[in-house]
Amino acid sequence: MFTIITGAQFGDEGKGKVVDLISGDYDLVVRFQGGDNAGHTVKVGDDVYKLHLVPSGFLFDTRVLIGPGTVMNPEVLAGEIDMLAEGGIELGPEKLGIDAKTSIIMPYHIELDGLRESRRTEKIGTTRRGIGFAYIDKVARDEIRMADIANRDRLLRRLNELAPSRESSIKELGGDPGIVMDERLIARYADLGKRLAPYITDVSYEINRALEEGRNVLAEGAQGTHLDVIHGTQKFVTSSSTIAGSACANLGVGPTKVDGVLGIVKAYITRVGEGPLPTELTDRTGRRIQEVGKEFGTTTGRARRCGWFDLPLLKKAIYLNGYTSIALTKLDVLSDLDPIKVCVSYELDGRALDYPPENTADLARCRPVYEELPGWKGDLTGVKGFDELPQAAQNYILSLEKSMGVPIVYVSVGPARAQTFRKETGN
Ligand code: IMP
Repeated sequence: MFTIITGAQFGDEGKGKVVDLISGDYDLVVRFQGGDNAGHTVKVGDDVYKLHLVPSGFLFDTRVLIGPGTVMNPEVLAGEIDMLAEGGIELGPEKLGIDAKTSIIMPYHIELDGLRESRRTEKIGTTRRGIGFAYIDKVARDEIRMADIANRDRLLRRLNELAPSRESSIKELGGDPGIVMDERLIARYADLGKRLAPYITDVSYEINRALEEGRNVLAEGAQGTHLDVIHGTQKFVTSSSTIAGSACANLGVGPTKVDGVLGIVKAYITRVGEGPLPTELTDRTGRRIQEVGKEFGTTTGRARRCGWFDLPLLKKAIYLNGYTSIALTKLDVLSDLDPIKVCVSYELDGRALDYPPENTADLARCRPVYEELPGWKGDLTGVKGFDELPQAAQNYILSLEKSMGVPIVYVSVGPARAQTFRKETGN
């Protein structure tokens, strides 16, 4: 069985938590795009781990893989392996694999990301982790790959070849070009390469063999649908393709192998960084959702912008991903808000639109048209099944499900694994 999970909105929908919940049913869990711009928090007993690169699901008897379509900062990955080891969780090469072709985020990518972002008049609000510049190099065929840092001589040869153009780019943006050939940094990357070398694998081969043998594979997306570099709200997007089809292309698995695509959908909407968010709430309700939902980034700590559920954007996410099921997260955050609003269409230049305009500048001008639903009172975080929810909360879920036309299979009412239940069957 091959399942793909993606975020249906702008990221931070709670993918990690759902992957964590279901990964016990999978033999392999694989990251297919993005880098340490993503982040999720994993709770093990009293210990809390904030992770950016290690795929979710490592707590189970599951092998976790980092695919060749990701961009990987080896310092961050080594730090996560060490942090987990301190908590008694060993991620050795039998547990974690990194594709030989995975692009490495070099210090100069991070430098360039920061410099470029600072100089933009209209900012994107990147995480400044070097993601965009690592992908630029990948597409330009100027990347340094996992297999390159595993071999010091190859790393040096590659750096010598690339240094002049990277140095001039940094200089042009007013930075210090010395970072490119900094001996201390090169030695550090060579050490990290040596350390991570035993983890090198061929991810496409591993997945296809597993599927041939009847084992189960889960592809875990990072960020969210509308941050997709092709179909998102350009230019306010990340630099990789975040939608379900990207899992096949980035992992090297044929689309004929896909059994299901699970969309993770927050019961409202959030966005970090710049770009249009038609239902954004800049008032007390928005601040309340932000506080109750703890809407602050795992990676940058930035406050997330919050808004009401946006159905047109969700319809687009359903088209882009072909969802076969949906997990609705953070329903508990909407308690005690009455009424609860759902954006059912937009108004643009006197026209009603039930689907987002393709041009980002037009989306930014859209005004939400809301339908109001009755709210409910009280804490939902202890609820264990659909039937236990207040009637108004049940109605909210059923109304969203009907409008989306895709079954909501999971509902979550809190951060712990026990706070997610299957909608049909109860826990
Ligand atoms: P970058 O991916 O760091 O280049 O940032 C580009 C845009 O994507 C910015 O608006 C970021 O805030 C956003 N972004 C990147 N990663 C995530 C994520 O994991 N969750 C939510 N937003 C993200």
